[in-house]
Amino acid sequence: MAAAPRTLFVTSALPYASGDIHFGHLLEHIQTDIWVRFQRLQGHRVLYCCADDSHGTPMMLTAERLGEAPETLVERYRRSHAEDLAAFYVDHDIYYTTHSEENRQCAELIFERCRDAGLIFTREVSQYFDPEKGMFLADRFLKGTCPRCDADDQYGDNCEKCGATYEATELKAPRSTLSEATPELRSSEHYFFDLGKQQAFLEQWTQSGTLQPEVANKIQEWLAAGLKPWDISRDAPYFGFKIPGSDNKYFYVWLDAPIGYMAALKKLEAEGRSDGVCFDAIWSASSAAEVHHFIGKDIVNFHTLFWPAMLEGAGFRTPTRIHTHGFLTVDGTKMSKSRGTFINASTYRAHLDPEYLRYYFAAKLGPNTDDIDLSLDDFVARVNADLVGKVVNIASRCAGFLHKQHGGQLGTRIDDEALWAEAQAALDPIAAAYDSGEYGKAIRAIMALADRANQYIDAQKPWVLAKDPEQGEAVQAICTLGLNLFRVLVITLKPVLPKMAEAAEAFLGGASLRWADAEQWFGGQAIEPFKPLKTRLERSAVDAMVEASKESAPPAPPPAAPEAGETIDIAQFQALDLRAAKVLNAETVEGADKLLRLTLDVGPLGQRTVLSGIRSAYGPEELKGRFVVLLANLAPRKMRFGVSEGMVLAAGPGGEDLFLLSVDRGVTPGMEIA
Ligand code: MSP
Ligand code: ZN
Repeated sequence: MAAAPRTLFVTSALPYASGDIHFGHLLEHIQTDIWVRFQRLQGHRVLYCCADDSHGTPMMLTAERLGEAPETLVERYRRSHAEDLAAFYVDHDIYYTTHSEENRQCAELIFERCRDAGLIFTREVSQYFDPEKGMFLADRFLKGTCPRCDADDQYGDNCEKCGATYEATELKAPRSTLSEATPELRSSEHYFFDLGKQQAFLEQWTQSGTLQPEVANKIQEWLAAGLKPWDISRDAPYFGFKIPGSDNKYFYVWLDAPIGYMAALKKLEAEGRSDGVCFDAIWSASSAAEVHHFIGKDIVNFHTLFWPAMLEGAGFRTPTRIHTHGFLTVDGTKMSKSRGTFINASTYRAHLDPEYLRYYFAAKLGPNTDDIDLSLDDFVARVNADLVGKVVNIASRCAGFLHKQHGGQLGTRIDDEALWAEAQAALDPIAAAYDSGEYGKAIRAIMALADRANQYIDAQKPWVLAKDPEQGEAVQAICTLGLNLFRVLVITLKPVLPKMAEAAEAFLGGASLRWADAEQWFGGQAIEPFKPLKTRLERSAVDAMVEASKESAPPAPPPAAPEAGETIDIAQFQALDLRAAKVLNAETVEGADKLLRLTLDVGPLGQRTVLSGIRSAYGPEELKGRFVVLLANLAPRKMRFGVSEGMVLAAGPGGEDLFLLSVDRGVTPGMEIA
C-alpha cells in the first residue's frame, strides 16, 4: 500500500466534561487511535485532536454545588480525562476544552457567517421558568404527571410508564426538579438555525459516500420527513458563550461543541505543534486535506446534519467521512453500575493492562454500527490465547536457541520461501482492513499468520535439532524465520499494541518500525535477550476490577465509636486484615491538596488503588518502593476523586507530623501483619 502521503485531521467525539471517562468513551478513542496510528505507520500526516465538551447546564450546576468557579472545574476534568486517555495509549496531539478563546472566536465567526447568509432567525418561545432558581428549565429538569396515562413523577418530554412523548407544556402538575417550585410559563426570544434551507445540500452531502450505508439510509428517512429549525440558543444563566449582538443569550452547548474540533487545531497551531499544518490547510473550502470524525450512533444527527449544515453555511469545507460505531455492552447488557459493569478508565487501569482492552476492542470492531459486546470470559480467553499463547510465544521460543547457540545472531537464509511469501501476501489485505475500519478482520488475518508461524516451528522442532551439533545452521535458520514472522506480527499489531511493539522493537535491535519494514527480510543482525512481553491475564484480576466498579452500597450508618476506656474483644481485632503493601506508584490528586493516590502491590490480593490523606507529610517520590501497612478488608469507598480500595495506616497529630506505619525487613507484598 504505497500511496502518496495524505494529510488527515481526525477527531473522537468530545466527552462531556462533567463525568469520568468510561468504557464507552474508551471504545471510541481506542477505535480512533488505532486508525490514526495505522495511518501514521503508512507515512501519512495525521493530526488527532480532541477536547472536553465543557459547556452546558450540568456543568454550571455542578460548579454551583461544589462552590467552585466553572473554569476551575473545567481544567480539573480536562486534565483527568487527558490522563485517563493517555494511559490507554490514546495518542491525541492535543486534548483541549471547548471553553477556550479559540473556540469562542470560531463559534462567533460561524454564527455570524451563517446569520449573514440568512440561515439564522429568531422567534419567541414559551417555556417553563423556575421562579426560585431564576432560570428556564430544560425538559430533564421538569417532572410531573403524564398527560396520557396520569403516571406520576415523569420527565418533561416523555413518560417511562406508557412511553408517550409530549411537550413539556402538556405535563400535568409540573414541578422543577431543581427547586421543587411550580414553574411558570414565560416567553423568551430564541435563535434558530434554519436547517430546511440546507435540505438540498444535505441530501447531496449525506448520500455522497461520507457515511456508512446504514447511516446514510437512516438520514435519508429524516430528510424525507423534512428538517425543522434547530434552536441554538439558551437563556442566562448558562455556562457557555454569549451570542454576539445579544445580552443574555448563550449558544446551546451543541452549537459550539463540534466547533471545538476546529478550535483544538487553532490551539495546536498556536503552540507550534501542528506539524506545519495551518488551520486553513484543513478547514478552507478548497482544502485538499481530509477530515474524519469518529462518533457513536447516538450523536449521528449532530454530525451528519447540523454540523455539515453549519460548515457549509459558513463557507468552510465539510467532513470527508463520519465513522459511526455502535454502543458497548458488557456481558450482553447495558453497562450497569450495580453489576459493576459500568467501568471507568481509572478503575480498569488500576487493575489491568490497558493494551489488553485495546486488543479486545480491536478484535471486536467492524465497519458497521452494530453494538459491541465485551464478554468478560471471552476477554480473558482471547488475550491469553492470542497475545500470550500465540504471538509472544513465537519470540520466546526462537530467542532462546539463538542466544544459547548463536550469540543472539540471526541467520541470513530464508528457510521456507513459501511461508515468507505467505506472510508478505497477508500485508495488503491487513492494511486494507484497518483502513476500512474492519479491525476484527485485520486481527483474524494476523492471528492466522501467528498460527502458521507456530505450526512451522512445531513441524521443524528446533528443540530436537538443537541437540545435534551438525544442525546448528538449521536451528539458526528456523529461529530466524520464526523471528521474522514475529516481526511482521509486531508491525501489523502496532496500531493496536503500541507499547508492546516498543518493547519488541528494543528486542529486535532498536529501530522504530514502520509498516513498510514488514516487507524487508531481517537477517544477519544480533537481537537482545528476550524479556516476556505480556503476561497471562487472570480472571481474578478482572473480578477485582468489576468489584471495584460496583457502586458503593448506600453508606451504612457509621458504627458508634467506642467510648474512651471501652474495650473491643479479640475477635473484633482479628477482623482487621492488615497487610504489608509495596508502594508501586504515588501521585498527587488534581484538586485535592491533602490526598495522594497510591498504587499498592498487595501480593496475592493484587494491586490496589488507595487515596490517602498524607500529602502534607509525604511527597510522592519518597513513598515509591516503600512498604506500608494496609487495612486490606476495608470496603472500597467511592470518593470524589475516585474509588479508594483500603486504608493506609499512619499515626500522629497531623500536618507534617504524620507518620506512616511502615515495615521494611523481611516482608513481601501481601504478607499478613499482626
Ligand atoms: N459531548 C457530546 C459529544 C460532542 S462531539 C462534538 C457527547 N459526549 S458523551 O460523553 O456523552 O459521549 C462521547 C462519545 O462517547 C460519543 O460518541 C458517544 O457515542 C460515546 N459513548 C458514550 N457511551 C458509549 C457507550 N456505552 N458505547 C459506545 N460509545 C458510547 O455525546
Ligand atoms: Zn404515561
